[in-house]
Amino acid sequence: MNYNIAIDGPAGAGKSTVARMVAKKLHFIYVDTGAMYRAIALFFLQKGIDPQDTETMAAQCRNAEVSITYEDGEQIVLLNGENVNRLIRTEEVSTMSSKASAVPEVRARLLDLQRGLAAGESVVMDGRDIGTCVLPQADVKIFLTASTRVRALRRHEELQGRGIAESLESVERKIIERDEADRNRAISPLREAEDAVHVDTSDMTVEEAVDRVLEICREKMA
Ligand code: DC
Repeated sequence: MNYNIAIDGPAGAGKSTVARMVAKKLHFIYVDTGAMYRAIALFFLQKGIDPQDTETMAAQCRNAEVSITYEDGEQIVLLNGENVNRLIRTEEVSTMSSKASAVPEVRARLLDLQRGLAAGESVVMDGRDIGTCVLPQADVKIFLTASTRVRALRRHEELQGRGIAESLESVERKIIERDEADRNRAISPLREAEDAVHVDTSDMTVEEAVDRVLEICREKMA
């Protein structure tokens, strides 16, 4: 039997870390849908498209072929056949992906890919609209969140770890802007599904968050 676990929440809540670890424990596939939006955003940046030019994005996204493969359990995102994992974690791509993900044609392009993956395998899929739109019938829905300050601190630490100098205030401002954009867009906005379990990780370690999510999964899948 296939199980679908949906983990949604705002940027920096720890979704990808937690989802990856939960998938590993359950021997499910981890699907990072944000990485797919990031790949399309990279395509737009490479084409020199302005982040405000949603019309050109709508027209051009059909030329971006995004697919997923796995190497040693790690998700690899392919953009027109090229592994772009190393290119999609910049702030420029983050900002562009937030704009691109509000374009209906872009979302439509990725929806089938996401549903197809979940239909064929047991998955832990993370994103913004997995429980509400992509997999409304998911067996388990988690809304993972944390305070804005804690999320900014985590992202700041991650950037520092990668040698990227940016002030905490600037990181926090961008998180707030991205939250606003993700929550207020017309199509598939970030919101908590009615049947989702709310998990606030502000005062949790990664291990505690993983244990809590696993506990919820075991209850729901029993
Ligand atoms: O989770 P992330 O930061 O990698 O996501 C990048 C962007 O893509 C983010 O601005 C929200 C958007 N996104 C989305 O709209 N729907 C998803 N299912 C996943 C991500």
